[in-house]
Formats: sequence, structure tokens, C-alpha cells
Amino acid sequence: MRSSVVSMLALGAAVTSAFPTASRASSQVKRATSCTFTSATKASESQKSCSTIVLDNIEVPAGESLDLSDLEDGTKVIFDGETTFGYEEWDGPLIRIEGSNIIVTGTSNHTINGGGARWWDGEGTNGGKTKPKFFYAHSLDDSTITGLNIKNTPVQAFSVQSDNIVLNRITIDNSDGDSAGGHNTDAFDVSESNGVTIRNAVVKNQDDCLAINSGSNIVFTGGTCSGGHGLSIGSVGGRDDNTVKNVTISHSTVADSANGIRIKTISDATGSVSGVTFSDITLSGISDYGIVFEQDYENGSPTGTPTTGVPITDLTVSSITGSVDSDAEQVYILCGDGSCSDWTWSGVSITGGSSSSECENVPSGASC
Ligand SMILES: *[C@@H]1O[C@H](CO)[C@@H](O)[C@H](O)[C@H]1NC(C)=O
Ligand SMILES: *[C@@H]1O[C@H](CO)[C@@H](O)[C@H](O)[C@H]1NC(C)=O
Repeated sequence: MRSSVVSMLALGAAVTSAFPTASRASSQVKRATSCTFTSATKASESQKSCSTIVLDNIEVPAGESLDLSDLEDGTKVIFDGETTFGYEEWDGPLIRIEGSNIIVTGTSNHTINGGGARWWDGEGTNGGKTKPKFFYAHSLDDSTITGLNIKNTPVQAFSVQSDNIVLNRITIDNSDGDSAGGHNTDAFDVSESNGVTIRNAVVKNQDDCLAINSGSNIVFTGGTCSGGHGLSIGSVGGRDDNTVKNVTISHSTVADSANGIRIKTISDATGSVSGVTFSDITLSGISDYGIVFEQDYENGSPTGTPTTGVPITDLTVSSITGSVDSDAEQVYILCGDGSCSDWTWSGVSITGGSSSSECENVPSGASC
């Protein structure tokens, strides 16, 4: 073992002379390797010794994660062929990738197929089978995930808890679940993160396209969302971190979904939502609300009675256009007394449906 490290050191000395210490040099040399794996277990065991990890038609064993949570800084992870998962009732995640400066991509001929239909029973995380979460991007800092093609997640797709992460051109196609019992198939759940950019996502699912529970400096742009619950902040409150700050959601479309854009905060909880911008969003086929901001959630449902502990301040709503279904409402705002302020509202032009007669404490600037 020792002698192989020494000989690799000698071999790599010229290449690594720019690095100041021997230990840094040895890790650089050791990792100047591209590894192709056809087994998830082997990929996990050998993850520290490869600078590039190609996952070639991996079949992840039932009840196990494709676990790349111990990567060296700067590792590249490339999905190739079809990645599949064995069936078991468990919480998951099916994939877990952690590290710094990690680059995750897929080849032009890859699919990551969750095979969700085996778990779908119309109950999502509310009951029935225990369903594995799909992809934990936790502590995946200063990293990028680009161009992944994902199909049929059992329940929620991405859980993002990372700093300075970019998710670009990710496609999540859970449309098979529309008729086969897909439920709670959120595409991107973001929490406890600082600096998240999600660009050019294409999502077909049965729950939120985006849900931000906490975090700061978050951008979602160029998204195409359909079949689900729309672009959402919340629910905020009642967790470890209940602050949402500086979020821009823009240049996106939401089609055939329950809501267009939404903020929901938890009844009687504390926290804050500030500096959120929704702009240039086009809606179509919205069945419940085009725009909905409400401060009355409890156990996942609205109570109808807003509370003031999670104020929504410095909110910008601009250029929200398109249409809602005939039995939907264009805008619904339910704020507590004084807990919504500094709102800027322009270019909201939604056709179809009706106006809500139940808005409360609508701040000046906004209209219901
Ligand atoms: C693409 O991936 C599929 C599934 O793994 C495989 O059967 C097929 O041979 C691949 N095609 C090319 C051109 O690599
Ligand atoms: C808000 O977040 C964006 C995106 O991360 C960042 O570029 C900008 O500087 C932040 N604004 C403030 C006031 O922190």
C-alpha cells in the first residue's frame, strides 16, 4: 500500500508540482483516474480513488442508495445508459451525492429511471407503501448537476440542501404517474441552502414543481412545469429553519397544474419570507389558483384563518400572464393583520375563472 503510494507520487511529481504539499500531491496523483462502474456497490467503495466516475447502466440493489457521499473535491460523476433501482419499501434516497466542486452530468444516451410505478398507489407520502425519496443533493456545495434525464420517481425527486449549487437542464418526466397513481412527486424541494440556481428544468409531475421551505439567494428560471401544483414557496414555518430570503422565480411556464405561483406559511408558526420576486411567468390550464399567497396552513391544509408569525415582506409580482380554468380563481391572498407588506405588483393579467371574494388584509399595491 505504502509503496504504491510512493511510486505513484514519483510518477506524478511533474504533473503535481504546482501543489504545495506532498499530501495534496498524492491525492491528486492517486485520483488522476477515470473509472467506469457497472455496479453501484463498487462505485461507492471506490469513489475516493477516481477523479471521474462513469456510472454505466447501473442497477442499484433494492433498499440501497447509489451512494457517492464521500467524493473527493472536484470529482466528475457521469451517468451513462439506463440507471435502474431494485424494488423495496423504504425511505431512500435512491441516489445520494455529496462533496465540493462536484460536476454531475449524463451522456446524451442516459436515463435515470426510478421505476416509480412499482410504488405508486395514489397516496404518495401520506400512506400506503413506504416510498423511497429519489435524489439527495445534500452538502453538495459549489457544485453543478447538468442535463440529467429522470423518469418516474417513486415520490419526491430532488431534495436540495447545499450551498452554491447549480442544477441546469434537468428533465423530470413523471407523466406516467398522472394515470398510474403518482403522488407527492415534487420536483425540487429546497431547504437550508444558500445559493441555489435551477435553470431550464422541464418537469411533468403530480406535486410542486419547486417548493422552497427555507434558504437564501435562490433562483429558478427558464422552467417548464406541468401536471403538478406549480411554483411554490413553502410551506414555511414549524421546521428547524424558517427563513426564506432573496428568491427569484422567473421566465417560466406552468401548465395543467393546480396553482401557478404560491406562497404558503404555517398557521401559528414563526419565520419570515422576504425579498421574493415572481416575474415573467405564463400560466395555462390552472385548476385552483393562478396566484395564491396564504398564511393559514396547518397539517398540510389551509385553515382559512391567517396568522401573522411568518410575515411576507418585500414581495414583487410582475408579468404574470395567461389563463386559469373556468372554475378556478385568478388570485387569492389571505394575509394576517399587518403580516404582508412592501408588495409590488405589476403586469398581472390572468384570464378565465373568477376573482376571489375571500381575500383578507391585501397589502397596498396588490390586488385580489
Ligand atoms: C443507449 O442506451 C441504451 C440503454 O442502456 C442501450 O441499450 C443503447 O445501446 C445505447 N445506445 C447507444 C447509441 O449507445
Ligand atoms: C440575491 O440572490 C442572487 C442570486 O444568488 C444574488 O446574485 C444577489 O446578489 C442576491 N441579492 C442580495 C441583496 O443578497
